[in-house]
Amino acid sequence: MNKQEFIEKLDSFGLPRSEYVILSGGSLLLRGLRDQTADLDLCASKALAQKLDLTSFPQDESGCYNPFEDVQMKDDMEGRPFDIVDGYQCETLESILEYKRRWQRPKDLRDIAAIEAYLAEKKGAERPMKVLVLNGSPKKKSDTFRLTEAFLKGLGKAVQHEVHIVNVIDKNIAPCRGCFGCWQKKDGHCVIPDDQNAILDLYRSSDIIIWSFPLYCYGMPSHLKAVLDRSIPLIKMDMVEGSDGAVRHEALVDFSKIHTLVICGCGFPDWDGNFDALRIMCRNCFNDPDMVFVPEAPMLNVPAAAVVADPLLLRFEKAGEEYSESLSLSAGTIASLETPMIPKEAYISIVNGQSK
Ligand SMILES: Cc1cc2nc3c(=O)[nH]c(=O)nc-3n(C[C@H](O)[C@H](O)[C@H](O)COP(=O)(O)O)c2cc1C
Repeated sequence: MNKQEFIEKLDSFGLPRSEYVILSGGSLLLRGLRDQTADLDLCASKALAQKLDLTSFPQDESGCYNPFEDVQMKDDMEGRPFDIVDGYQCETLESILEYKRRWQRPKDLRDIAAIEAYLAEKKGAERPMKVLVLNGSPKKKSDTFRLTEAFLKGLGKAVQHEVHIVNVIDKNIAPCRGCFGCWQKKDGHCVIPDDQNAILDLYRSSDIIIWSFPLYCYGMPSHLKAVLDRSIPLIKMDMVEGSDGAVRHEALVDFSKIHTLVICGCGFPDWDGNFDALRIMCRNCFNDPDMVFVPEAPMLNVPAAAVVADPLLLRFEKAGEEYSESLSLSAGTIASLETPMIPKEAYISIVNGQSK
């Protein structure tokens, strides 16, 4: 089955995505490293295995259960490394490589070559990269930018990159007029003669773009949203349907060469729904972005909170080092950056105490 058929089949089981990891062939299929896979190898959490009564199903010689047609399932998800790909938990490439190197069957050799080529292409540490930072905080002392600065410190540890920081609030960037003049001209520029065209030139020539901004009303601050809206000169009017069934505009530039990272700080403590709208917007507007959403961000500029803020800043620095090497962040790293600095109840009581 191809990627589309695989996803349709998987979704038809109605399993909660956080309760299983897609192993092996399916993980490669979702990443575009394979065109086809014969079956669905999954590994369920203990809770899901119990809910499905997994051990009551037939078991094959490799110890997997077959709860659905073409599905081979194990029940040992806990502790398995995974990345999020298209919203699904997928076994990491490093883990797949490890056992495929042991097995060395003809299909393993093909997969090993594809994974190694992919990882080599993704590896960035050896070369200096062009980094564009779009700082969307309107404040001189931005909570979010403290995190971004720490990240940049780590990013530049092994290799000195060319970093261009744009403080968007200081730029003259009008809202989009919706005239689609850019789609007539097709030169990658907007018809409005202000600071946006210089940003578009930087944008298309960057290897890494970091969107650093505070959460405003569950989204981006409006001055930064204007930059995003007015990036449509970099796409065309023509539409294409992707393998995931979503319809998108064709690109005018090669976005696959641009690695996007979103760093967003917010004022609320850990709360599931706070970042939902932003997460969907970023996923749709950027090419496979890494996203880090940090609760309790105002603590980053409170000197008395340094005891909990400094370790987080250190984790951001480490994350920068990781990103410089792999041009992505692991799910584990993102989780460690998004962990609230202090418990929700303590944070609320500090905020309320201060505001009285
Ligand atoms: C207009 C406005 C809207 C905000 N909306 C949200 C929100 O929806 N959710 C949230 O958790 N925090 C919200 N905040 C709080 C900011 O995200 C928070 O103070 C953040 O730490 C500011 O980061 P900065 O210093 O980098 O600008 C809002 C703040 C402002 C000024």
